[in-house]
Amino acid sequence: MSRILVAPSILAADFGRLAEETQRMEQAGADWIHLDVMDGHFVPNLTIGPQAVQALRPVTKLPLDVHLMIENPDRYVPIFVEAGADRVTVHAEAVSDLAKAVRQVRKLGVKVGVALRPQTGIDVLKSCLEEIDLALLMTVNPGFGGQAFMPEVLPKIEALRKIYGRYIQVDGGINQETAASTSSAGADVMVAGTYLFQAKDPKQAIAALKGEG
Ligand code: DX5
Ligand code: ZN
Repeated sequence: MSRILVAPSILAADFGRLAEETQRMEQAGADWIHLDVMDGHFVPNLTIGPQAVQALRPVTKLPLDVHLMIENPDRYVPIFVEAGADRVTVHAEAVSDLAKAVRQVRKLGVKVGVALRPQTGIDVLKSCLEEIDLALLMTVNPGFGGQAFMPEVLPKIEALRKIYGRYIQVDGGINQETAASTSSAGADVMVAGTYLFQAKDPKQAIAALKGEG
């Protein structure tokens, strides 16, 4: 069995049929469902809020992996947890005290992740590395699906893997090829939107991301 987990990003789903799209990915073998929350400030795009998390909670057994691309995430984290998030990831660039933000998520009883933009160095994780369940290294500039993978992030994945034993998630431009290069560098959770939702055979596409294709 592959050590790689796959988290389809519903940003690339048909928004008129989010429940069915989520179930389609569950049936195809997804491990988590990734939800991209954008506020039009931290990133130049607007997406979903806690109501979408709440609506999807009863339709799948999979963990809901909420990626907050928003300013002042501390104000909204409790609302997303209440809505049914199992994992909450905040951006290091969006908070003034990262260790405090991590403790806030932890205290609410869910898994906690910290995300870094491609340009942000892994040093910012020093204050919380022991306390986080997941580090998300963005492989595109956050904001939109369908962008090209940035290979310059690969050395950052390698450097983090040397000092961090838990989940390293990659997000942006992930397909069969970039999943292979990021997993060789040490990543173990693949977020993919376009590649999975446009796949003719999502089961085969998920297997390909896991290196089983
Ligand atoms: C980008 C989002 C990603 C995005 C990935 O800001 O965090 O989750 O939806 O989409 P693809 O796989 O299409 O690059
Ligand atoms: Zn994401």
